Amino acid sequence: MRQVKVAIAGFGGVGRAVASLLLTRRERYRAVYNTDVRLVAVCGSRAGTADPSGLEQTDLSQFTDGHSGSAFILSAKPDVLIEAGPSNFRTGAPGLDYIGAALDAGVHAVVISKGALVFDGNRLRERARKSGAILKVSGATAAALPTIDLFDYNLKGCRFLHVEGILNATTNYLLTAMMEGGLRFFEALRRAQEEGIAETDPRNDVEGWDTACKLLILANFGLGADLTMDDLSVEGIQNVSDAQIRQWREAGVIPKLVGEITLSAGSIGAAVRVKTFAPSEVFAQVRGKDKAIRVATDSMGDIVAIGCASEPKATASAALKDFEHILSIASGN
Ligand SMILES: NC(=O)c1ccc[n+]([C@@H]2O[C@H](COP(=O)([O-])OP(=O)(O)OC[C@H]3O[C@@H](n4cnc5c(N)ncnc54)[C@H](OP(=O)(O)O)[C@@H]3O)[C@@H](O)[C@H]2O)c1
Repeated sequence: MRQVKVAIAGFGGVGRAVASLLLTRRERYRAVYNTDVRLVAVCGSRAGTADPSGLEQTDLSQFTDGHSGSAFILSAKPDVLIEAGPSNFRTGAPGLDYIGAALDAGVHAVVISKGALVFDGNRLRERARKSGAILKVSGATAAALPTIDLFDYNLKGCRFLHVEGILNATTNYLLTAMMEGGLRFFEALRRAQEEGIAETDPRNDVEGWDTACKLLILANFGLGADLTMDDLSVEGIQNVSDAQIRQWREAGVIPKLVGEITLSAGSIGAAVRVKTFAPSEVFAQVRGKDKAIRVATDSMGDIVAIGCASEPKATASAALKDFEHILSIASGN
């Protein structure tokens, strides 16, 4: 039986969920891919643990200080890196170092954080091509909502005409609470924070940056664009006023924060903005924490996917879907 060694960099809510799901799915990997999957290293920002014969769940609370960084991870000789660290699209750190080092060494990478992919994604793809490593990014492109896989698998061969998505759960929850629950922006935000939906510092979500990051990765990785954040116009929902909400209600339309990719005459553009929809339109029915994507194609018509969970287990599961695609490519299954 073939052996595949996995390392995880970034061991917060998502990294822990990845480890736990990976360990519980080992029997499945044996049965479906004839592969003995071993978790050989995990680390957070300052500490980690490694065992070339394979870590068990009970080992994951005993970290050694200083066992962190790309050299530590690569010293465990993984075949696959799952990267689940924090995301900073202005510097790419800390993911860029882990992902770049792994790809250069021919280690496949399943990336969950968006920062490095936004900051230097196309060069990372080039580094993967050079070494023959596979780079997968479902976790960074709305995770449980199928997005990049629509381009890579389901709609392969089509010409893409237009893409739009409600890609951020927090802003969709806030707009729904303001339109349907009559809450003001800061009341809706406080409720979202109390329910663990919005982060303590919500600017990345409410100012549209999270949507912009996902959109940029989708355009570059899914559609072959070469966009940087400077190419995107980005609007958030932080300035939506009570008067604006009243106007939308009176007009009978429903606002959504939408990321949009337009493809025309060989050029690709992307923007994040608040768009309104008639109640009969499918995006109007995407409420609360749900997300959605609509892809218009030349030959398979319009495809819409809606729904998805947003918590760490769902994100981890999306990353492990990527991992299974790698197993299946490597095993020819
Ligand atoms: N939460 C979700 O459901 C969700 C959904 C989609 C995408 N994501 C993305 O997934 C990633 C992880 O999210 P999370 O909720 O798990 O975040 P988190 O709980 O804040 O965990 C982040 C982890 O990264 C570690 N880290 C920080 N700097 C590091 C470094 N230099 N080297 C190695 N590890 C480092 C932290 O280590 P310490 O513990 O030592 O500080 C921590 O373990 C983020 O990029 C997020 O945007 C999350």
